[in-house]
Amino acid sequence: MKQLDEKAARYIVDVISANERPVLGLATGSTPLGVYSSLITAYQQGQVSFKQTTTFNLDEYVGLPSSHEQSYAHYMQKHLFEHVDMEPNAIHIPNGMNADPQQECNLYDKQLEKAGRIDIQILGLGHNGHIGFNEPDQALIRNTHVVELSETTIAANARFFTSRDEVPKQAITMGIGSILHAKQILLIVKGEDKAHIVHKSLCGPITTQIPASLLQTHPGLIVLLDRGAAKNLNL
Ligand code: F6R
Repeated sequence: MKQLDEKAARYIVDVISANERPVLGLATGSTPLGVYSSLITAYQQGQVSFKQTTTFNLDEYVGLPSSHEQSYAHYMQKHLFEHVDMEPNAIHIPNGMNADPQQECNLYDKQLEKAGRIDIQILGLGHNGHIGFNEPDQALIRNTHVVELSETTIAANARFFTSRDEVPKQAITMGIGSILHAKQILLIVKGEDKAHIVHKSLCGPITTQIPASLLQTHPGLIVLLDRGAAKNLNL
């Protein structure tokens, strides 16, 4: 696992080193934790500086302040930003506290546009093939948008909150168009429980019912899998 995390971190360090003003697309969740920890080590060893780097996170819950332990803003501070030399104003995460979430989406798209193309977008993969909060559907949305979380997601998240009422019902996510607009995409998947969806996403038909299957169309897709996640592929 450490090998995979270090390899992913190496791709990111290389992108940072090769660009004067690198733009990174970041994900949260359990998958990139080891990658962020490898990036912190690389920074501490003087292999990389984040001073000129701009970041855009994929998503954030609506209604959670950045100080809330379950917010993605809090996650990013804890697992990466507070350990490296990022400029605070170069960090972009949708503001889940904007009273007008749609306005927040428009603002995020403007910020993305201003920054130019994301040089490398890190992605994890949901069990149902979601990327960001782009869930399986008959159609997918191109730009940043508000999503209603499914009852299953709300129920699964409830364990992290003191009461069920506190669990966010909505999130803001970058759209599929913005994800696919990145110059490179680094899809990282770990665990045998995702072997099935890895196979469907990478080898099955391209369908909005498996949002990650659209990644097959991206010329700059890099896939990093552990043995478990790669189990159903004929490698
Ligand atoms: C996180 C995100 C999600 C996760 C996915 C996998 O910002 O957008 O799409 O990447 O749910 O989550 P983990 O890594 O926890 O299995």
